[in-house]
Amino acid sequence: MLTGKLVTFEGPDGAGKTSALNAIVAKLQPQLGDRLVVTREPGGNQISEAIRKIILDRHNTAMDDRTEALLYAAARRQHIVQTIQPALQNDQLVLCDRYIDSSVAYQGAGRGIGEQAVYDMNQFATAGLTADLTLYFDVDAAVGLNRIQQHRQNEINRLDVEALSFHNRVQAAYLRLLADHPDRIKRVDASQPLDQVVTQALEIMASQLPAYVASKGGEDQ
Ligand SMILES: Nc1ncnc2c1ncn2[C@@H]1O[C@H](COP(=O)(O)OP(=O)(O)O)[C@@H](O)[C@H]1O
Ligand SMILES: [Mg+2]
Repeated sequence: MLTGKLVTFEGPDGAGKTSALNAIVAKLQPQLGDRLVVTREPGGNQISEAIRKIILDRHNTAMDDRTEALLYAAARRQHIVQTIQPALQNDQLVLCDRYIDSSVAYQGAGRGIGEQAVYDMNQFATAGLTADLTLYFDVDAAVGLNRIQQHRQNEINRLDVEALSFHNRVQAAYLRLLADHPDRIKRVDASQPLDQVVTQALEIMASQLPAYVASKGGEDQ
């Protein structure tokens, strides 16, 4: 039985997913302790991190689009088996930086393989394991790219350097996903200052996952 909960963090590059995730972990760790599992895709274990290096390496300019999509799905499969599923069986709250929506948006729409094709291919990898809650960090692709260029120069990867048109296709696909899955995907206004982004994300988590996250007005605070 998967009694835990999976929360995924999605959105364009530079939306602030990783920054918000770190702040949320700092907030929740004291209450949740070992019940909190923090991980990322592609990665989270030795095999998936090795695949991540291949995918994001800026020297791998010859990589075929479908190869890229398959590598993401392969890393995801290993991540689910080794990390996510055991944590969910153990009643833990899993916070994951990117998941299947990223593949649909980046490979499906960004690369143009087709959103449905990438989704279907990922069903083989996930065997249907869906996030309980997805926080969509909504910011214009151009704003996100600008943040990265200003502050994160040292870790720009193979996908970050794609043209703005690529990132606009990614963003448009995310907005379609948001519209199509209103129960699972909740929008966070990521154009706000980071502390407000974090507050909004925590409020959503508290309302959707009250067994794990206390609301601000709750007695724990
Ligand atoms: N709400 C925000 N406002 C302004 N800058 C931000 C905000 N959130 C994150 N940043 C900055 O933007 C850059 C990208 O943030 P990051 O968390 O790495 O984004 P992501 O993980 O979504 O790609 C970082 O330099 C970060 O400090
Ligand atoms: Mg990040």
